[in-house]
Amino acid sequence: MEVNTKVDKLTETKADAIVVCCFEETTSLDNNTAAIDEAMGGVISQLINTGSIKSKLNEITILHTLGKLPADRVAIVGMGKADKLTLDRVRGATGEVCRLLQKKNLYTIAIPTLGAGMADITPGDAAQAITEGALLGTYLFRQHQTKKAEYDELKELTIIEPDTGKIPGVSRGCDKGRILAEATNLARDMVNEPSNYMTPSRMVAVANKLVEDGRLEISVLEADQMAELGMGALLGVARGSQEPPKFIILRYQGTESKETDIALVGKGITFDSGGISIKPSEGMGEMKGDMAGGAAVIAAMGALARLKPKINVTAFIPTTENMPSGKAIKPGDILTAINGKTIEIITTDAEGRLILADALGYAVKLGVKRIVDVATLTGACRVALGDIYSGAFGNNQELTSKVIEAGIQAGELIWQMPMHEDYQTQLESDVADIKNAGNRWGGAITGAQFLAEFIDDTPWVHIDIAGTFLSDKERKYLVKGGTGVPVRTLVNFVLSLAN
Ligand code: BES
Ligand code: MN
Ligand code: ZN
Repeated sequence: MEVNTKVDKLTETKADAIVVCCFEETTSLDNNTAAIDEAMGGVISQLINTGSIKSKLNEITILHTLGKLPADRVAIVGMGKADKLTLDRVRGATGEVCRLLQKKNLYTIAIPTLGAGMADITPGDAAQAITEGALLGTYLFRQHQTKKAEYDELKELTIIEPDTGKIPGVSRGCDKGRILAEATNLARDMVNEPSNYMTPSRMVAVANKLVEDGRLEISVLEADQMAELGMGALLGVARGSQEPPKFIILRYQGTESKETDIALVGKGITFDSGGISIKPSEGMGEMKGDMAGGAAVIAAMGALARLKPKINVTAFIPTTENMPSGKAIKPGDILTAINGKTIEIITTDAEGRLILADALGYAVKLGVKRIVDVATLTGACRVALGDIYSGAFGNNQELTSKVIEAGIQAGELIWQMPMHEDYQTQLESDVADIKNAGNRWGGAITGAQFLAEFIDDTPWVHIDIAGTFLSDKERKYLVKGGTGVPVRTLVNFVLSLAN
């Protein structure tokens, strides 16, 4: 879909549909809606007065204009109570309305800067949220469907702004929103691709494609180089698979300095069968998305290369399958990670923390200043927080708060979970330095405590997205399948550090 901005009057714009909004418990219309209402002979206010339109959040009414306007239809989207308005509600309402119009074969849409001037929302902010909502909410994954679909992809969204003075801000917001949404949709594509397509080698191919525009550098470690570096934990997980593991390193350099201001680390398990500690077959297909953390990190790097902040970022994505076979690691085995720590395997299904151990240890060894890792790490985090909040764990409150704040801006909610040395007793091993799993209780926390063993004193935040990497329904700007969480958080976070 194309998104652009135009100086125009909404009442004079030609499109398949024009979008306006209305608020609950008020009959007073904003300027845009009032102008459309007048051109339509007062039908909108009449529907509101008679209670046919209640303006509940994301309630959508579509009217035919029957020649009263150059546009064919008007879609009125409810925004809920005016005093509850947030940027994420603008993003969500736009997602819902654009998705509905797409399904109705209405392919060109004109929309004003919904919400601008209210709740501290600038026209630029609104344009960004609208662009994100439209591109995310109409996302389709049809790569493997050969049958003709009932509707096509939305073609064009035009953000209409009558005031020329506001256009620079609006088009800047629109550009930023496009970059963020396209990156999020790239991460969704990677999560949605089945594991026979999205292998570790294909993860490398996706990363390589982002490098083509010249702003990123890539290096990929092969198994023999991992062995030289002492990545025994990652290699242990990879041993059961026929697919060669890859360790992707992407570098974005925004300053003269050679230092890495921030390392982004993402779990890249392209399929998690559980290994010898095999998972139950029900729902196992979801585990094609166990590389969602790695996908988010790769996609965020692509966005950063387009946004060009003055900061240096290095991404580390260890990627492999976790499979059972005659060569696979077994419970009771002991692996040695890059920092020399030995790990007793309690379950081969706690593989994410093993590959992250080597990736985090490697980043620490290179002397990066800060680390954020993203992983579909624990079912326990999904049980604790459901599919709304991701979990955050950290050793540095300032950094953790910054990540959470970046998430709020993105509409990607993150809840801080505790860490404490007393959880560490769960990970004490009789035969090695540490076990790779504790007991049933507090599983998301012991997962994070395990990772902390490979961090030393580097300021670090771990984001567990096991609950949020997938959506089981259409909701706001989310569709069924991969959510692309937390791509926009990562980008916002890096931008906030650069300023
Ligand atoms: N990839 C899974 C976690 C997961 C579960 C992600 C559900 C998304 C949805 C991870 O590798 C795993 O298997 N974790 C185990 C750890 C346990 C064995 C200590 C889990 O959560 O059960
Ligand atoms: Mn697992
Ligand atoms: Zn996993």
